[in-house]
Amino acid sequence: MLSNSVEHTPVLLNEAMTLLNVRPGGLYIDCTVGLGGHTEALLEKLGGHGRVIGTDRDRQAIEKARQRLSRFPNFELYHSNFKNLPLILSRLSLQAIDGCLVDLGVSSMQLTSAERGFSFRETGPLDMRMDREQKTSAAQLVHELTEDQLADIFRRFGEEPAARKIAATIVTERRTKRVRTTTELAELVERVKGRRPGSRIHPATQVFQALRIAVNQELEGLEEFLDAVIERLRPGGRLVVISFQSLEDRVVKQLFQKKAGRCICFRPGDACICPRQELVQILTKKPVVPSAEETAANPRSRSAKLRAVEKIGD
Ligand SMILES: C[S@@+](CC[C@H](N)C(=O)[O-])C[C@H]1O[C@@H](n2cnc3c(N)ncnc32)[C@H](O)[C@@H]1O
Repeated sequence: MLSNSVEHTPVLLNEAMTLLNVRPGGLYIDCTVGLGGHTEALLEKLGGHGRVIGTDRDRQAIEKARQRLSRFPNFELYHSNFKNLPLILSRLSLQAIDGCLVDLGVSSMQLTSAERGFSFRETGPLDMRMDREQKTSAAQLVHELTEDQLADIFRRFGEEPAARKIAATIVTERRTKRVRTTTELAELVERVKGRRPGSRIHPATQVFQALRIAVNQELEGLEEFLDAVIERLRPGGRLVVISFQSLEDRVVKQLFQKKAGRCICFRPGDACICPRQELVQILTKKPVVPSAEETAANPRSRSAKLRAVEKIGD
């Protein structure tokens, strides 16, 4: 069996730890523990003091992280969507936190396990659920949504130019046979779009991204969740978010700007309707991206963008 560190290499690890600015004895949250790489570094920085609470919606990840991090008595792990964090904190009677890390997207373990159905490179069931206790899978969306709904998902979440044609082909195809596997769907998309000569990007990349976002409802409630985290940060506490696709990064960027009191309605002067309340300071004017060395060593890191804010004192 592969070790956790091989199953997922934490992205922008040093940058994330530096920006979290770990305070001795502090209370930290890792919302997306995955295989536990970032969490382990955070716990080591805390050196046995303070407390770390972790969440992940994937039970397989939870089991692996639990084993890896069992030597830390100041670590608790919950199988939960991070959107439930306010509930978890209130059940634990915890009010304010010193820092929070959110490393969005999927882990390499999820991506490369054929049976999880995330990848067009491996033949597996069309699944894509991060939380396998959830009912809706990619196969269900592909077989139950209308042509309009599928096209909308491919366009909105994948920015796929051939969204309509792909949706129409799926609807025609599924009348006679089920699209059962990841590679069957990838081949269908390739038949519709063709393959650009010399391109290293598979033609089904955007459709797979779109379906994954839809299955896991990755954008729903993300802004409200980050807002709730900022509300719970102590003055000087920090929120660090790593995202891997532009739709998520846009949500993070705009929320940070709003919370930093910047105008995001782009109306001229006194027509601005933004609340303009300065609750955080933005620590990353431009998103932090992986170095050339990191992307060479871990190509999956190439699309990562890290943004961080610090809560302003009362
Ligand atoms: C990029 S991986 C995190 C890797 C981790 N930082 C590490 O070093 O191993 C993202 C993880 O977040 C989890 N995840 C994604 N969205 C989530 C959500 N809404 N709630 C809880 N966990 C989520 C996924 O299941 C996955 O394990």
